[in-house]
Amino acid sequence: MTETTQVICLDGPSGVGKGTISLAVAKKLGWPILDSGSLYRITALKVSRDFPGQAIDSIDVSQLADIAENLSVSYAEKDDELVITLEKEDITHLIRNEDIGSKASQIAAIPAVREALLERQRAFLVSPGLIADGRDMGTVVFPQAKVKIYLTASAEERAQRRYKQLKDKGIGANLSILVEELRIRDERDMNRTTAPLKPASDAIIIDTSELSIKQVTDEVMSLVSKVNVA
Ligand code: DC
Repeated sequence: MTETTQVICLDGPSGVGKGTISLAVAKKLGWPILDSGSLYRITALKVSRDFPGQAIDSIDVSQLADIAENLSVSYAEKDDELVITLEKEDITHLIRNEDIGSKASQIAAIPAVREALLERQRAFLVSPGLIADGRDMGTVVFPQAKVKIYLTASAEERAQRRYKQLKDKGIGANLSILVEELRIRDERDMNRTTAPLKPASDAIIIDTSELSIKQVTDEVMSLVSKVNVA
């Protein structure tokens, strides 16, 4: 890492499109992505395997932090997708369901788990720069970042997008359940005491409700060019 190494923080709630926008911006700049939510999801997957059937709040916090600290995980970009390997197993798709998302959100509220994952996240920052996608990228992990963007959209709009994605994949879903699941996750992520989901004081807020992927990507790229990071 050099003094000119830059980071673009993209924070916001579940389902707002951070992953899609991160990929689009990463492609334009040729920079890697930190999908920080995946680290909480991978921890949740490993916990559910090590403690089958056990509720998160019944497991000792130091054991949870220990799992987070010692994850044997690697990332590779392949065909516009981030391929994630845990202990030699491809878990790219295994971590993307609502059960793991909900467990990840519960685990992410535990300060010792967040602490255990902090340096691992910072280690993603390499020259010339990084796109960091998460909840606390601009507030906690990379407070020095010159570009901090907070994406937002209503729970209804985010649930509609998720519903369409699932439908396109031939997976049935119930829209009102999706809205409810997002609300529960937002509530937990925004109200935890450590690193709650909120815009950094110097973040630019983009409401994506009425915008296309291209419009949001163009807006992010225009902000990036204004502060001269690329
Ligand atoms: O972005 P995601 O849906 O994959 O994240 C899963 C959960 O992980 C989310 O509900 C909250 C948590 N998370 C977090 O607390 N901090 C981050 N930087 C990223 C995710």
